[in-house]
Amino acid sequence: MTSTLISNIGELVTNSDKKLGLINNAALVIENGKVVWIGPTSKAPGADSRIDAEGGCVTPGFVDSHTHLVFSGDRSKDYEARMSGASYATGGINTTVAATRAASDDELRSNLKQRLNLMRESGITTVEIKSGYGLDIETEARILKIAREFTTETTFLGAHVVPKEFAERRGEYIDLVKGKMLDACAPNSKWIDVFCDQGAFTVDEAREIINAGIAKGLKGRIHGNQLGDTGGAELAAELGLASVDHCTHISDSTIERLAAQKVVATLLPGAEFFTRSPYPNARRFLDAGVEIALATDCNPGSSYLTSMPIAISIAIREMNLNPMEALYAATRGGATALQREDLGHLSIGATANLVIWDAPSYLHIPYRMGVISNRVITN
Ligand code: NIG
Ligand code: FE
Repeated sequence: MTSTLISNIGELVTNSDKKLGLINNAALVIENGKVVWIGPTSKAPGADSRIDAEGGCVTPGFVDSHTHLVFSGDRSKDYEARMSGASYATGGINTTVAATRAASDDELRSNLKQRLNLMRESGITTVEIKSGYGLDIETEARILKIAREFTTETTFLGAHVVPKEFAERRGEYIDLVKGKMLDACAPNSKWIDVFCDQGAFTVDEAREIINAGIAKGLKGRIHGNQLGDTGGAELAAELGLASVDHCTHISDSTIERLAAQKVVATLLPGAEFFTRSPYPNARRFLDAGVEIALATDCNPGSSYLTSMPIAISIAIREMNLNPMEALYAATRGGATALQREDLGHLSIGATANLVIWDAPSYLHIPYRMGVISNRVITN
């Protein structure tokens, strides 16, 4: 048993409640990877080792509940075209699929590691990783096997788009996803996801695919309502899924259904930022009692973002969140979206994933857009 005392914490964000459970002049003891003691620095017990927070703020590590981190290739030209007036289209996904299929495991793994290092430097301590750039049995299974080396929060997204070679055989592709591809991917997946939107999959197709995954023991989440109000969020409520992600175009009645079914709405400010799209108004969700999460959606097409503080800063500025709400959504909100009660907070018993910021208050995270040195501790 080893224990670590973190003392001289100027402001501790415990997230014990939605007002962040703030404690000033605090200390915290970690034992066997869990938080075992919280209190004033003056009363801190002894421990095997000691870290001096030097008056800095300590927050839970960010929980990034939506990423597409395993990919190869470059889509910066798509970004250039959008910033010159073009709109986002799902067709670009096939470019990344071709590059990802051609990449070796070592190449995919080393790209992934570089992205994960950047994310960790920004304070992200948990990531969900989706497949979706393989879209054949072998590559989808390879992506998930590699992702599983780094996180237990892996998601099978064989239904990202219909790949080019199946353009005229849509039904066959859906059968493949629900059948042999799911069989090959389920052992390394916790979740199943479908991109249910314009240019991707319909509500009926998404329902079939998600139910096939659930029958194999996976849990469901969905990409919905990014490009239009096309029914993905309604389906998430109907099936009682953990989360519906994007929610850019959504009606009041659907928001009420999400609240009633306790489906988390995961908002992805990077996607609107990098596609120059209108942002959803997060107040509509909070006012209706929907729990929200903030995530990076890191992917090469719509949001090549590896920093949660930047996602937080954009969400505050453009989605009408205040700093407290945004920080909670990027930590405990993300954990709720992944159904992980041990993460996203620093109460007794929580997994001790945390960030010691070289700043006196959590407010400095968005106030300085995350450009703050920090020390990241993961367990
Ligand atoms: O979450 N919306 C679907 N998938 C990604 C974009 C994928 C891509 O363009 O490569 C997203 O935004
Ligand atoms: Fe996504």
